[in-house]
Amino acid sequence: MRTEPNALSIISPGAWKDIHSTVTTKKFKKTSRPTGRDGVDVLFTIEDDELHGRHRSVLSHAFSDRALRGQEARVLKHSNHLIEKLKTYSEAGAGVNLVEWLDFTTFDLVGDLAFGESFGCLDNSGYTPYVENTRGAFKEIAFFNIAARFSPLEKILMRMAPKRVIQRINEHNAMAADKVGRRIAKGANEERKDFWSYVLSQKENSFKLSGDEMELTASTLIAAGSITTAETLAGAVYFLCLNPTLMSELCNEIRSAFATQNEINIISTGNLRFLHACLMESMRLYTPVPFGLHRIAPKEGAMVAGHFIPGGVRIPLTHQTLTKTPI
Ligand code: HEM
Repeated sequence: MRTEPNALSIISPGAWKDIHSTVTTKKFKKTSRPTGRDGVDVLFTIEDDELHGRHRSVLSHAFSDRALRGQEARVLKHSNHLIEKLKTYSEAGAGVNLVEWLDFTTFDLVGDLAFGESFGCLDNSGYTPYVENTRGAFKEIAFFNIAARFSPLEKILMRMAPKRVIQRINEHNAMAADKVGRRIAKGANEERKDFWSYVLSQKENSFKLSGDEMELTASTLIAAGSITTAETLAGAVYFLCLNPTLMSELCNEIRSAFATQNEINIISTGNLRFLHACLMESMRLYTPVPFGLHRIAPKEGAMVAGHFIPGGVRIPLTHQTLTKTPI
C-alpha cells in the first residue's frame, strides 16, 4: 500500500527476510531520522553500513553475555525494589497502576545502566522530571518524523513546531549531557558494572564515540530500552489476567523452578520456556514498537515478497499490522 509519495507499506511475511536479513543481503539501508541534534550520529539512525558497524562494535561490548551477567546486580536491585513496593501496596489493600510502576522500574534500571544513576522513580513512587520529559518527547518526536517525510515543506513545518516541543527537547538534551558527563568522569572502573564500564574499557577499538555521540547514545538508549520493556511487560500482564489458565500455567512453571526468590536470576530464568513463549506472544499481540521501521531500496531496486521494488523507494514494515493481519 502506498502511504506517502515514495513509500510502500508491505505486510507480507516474506518481506521481513527480504528487507531485514543481514545474512543473505545488506541491500536495504536504514533511513536517517531526525535525532534533534544536527550532525551527531547515533546507532539507531545511521544509514551508512560502515559507520553503523563502527558504532555497533563500540556498544556491542555492553551487550555481550559476559556484560549482561556483569550488570545483573543492577537488574536485580530494581526488580526487587518493584516487588517490595508492590508488596507494600498489596498488604495495605491498595490498588496500583501497574503500567506506571513498570515504567518506573524500567526507567530506573536503564537510567542506571546508561547514565550510571537511577532516576529514582521507584523511590518517589512517581515520574521524575527527566522521565516525564522523555515520555512527552516521544509523542513530540512524531512531529519531526512526519515533517522529515515531506522534505520540500520540512523547513516550513519545522518553523511551525510548537515552542513547547523545542524547549522540551532542549531540556531533555541538557539533562542528558549533565548526567552522561558525570558518568564518563567516573571512568570505566565503577564497582557495579553499567554500559559505560564496557564501552570505556575497550583498548583494542581505535574508533571512539565523541562526547556528543555518547550523550545522544545514552539518552536514546534510555528511551529505546525502558518504554519498550515496560510496554512488553504491561502487555504480558494484561493478557495473562485475561487468561487465568495461562496465568496458572506460568505460575506453576516459575514456582516449580525456584524454591526462593534468591534463585531467580538472568541465567536461571533463561530456562523458563513458557515464560519465554508468553513474552514473545505478548510482543506479537501488543507490539511495543508499533510503527514502521523504515528501510530504503538499493539504487538498482530489489525483489520484496515476489515484487520488484524500484531503487530509492522507502518501505516501512509496520510491526503492529505485520504481526496481527492473517494472510
Ligand atoms: C522488549 C523490549 C525491546 C523492544 C521491543 C525493542 C525493539 C527494538 C527494535 C524494533 C529495534 C530496531 C529498530 C530499527 O531497526 O529501526 C531496536 C533496536 C535497538 N534496540 Fe531495542 N528493543 C527493546 C529493548 C531494548 C533494550 C533494553 C535496549 C538497551 C538498553 C535496546 C537497545 C537497542 C539498540 C542499541 C538498537 C539499535 C541496534 C542497531 O541499530 O544496531 N533495546 N530495538
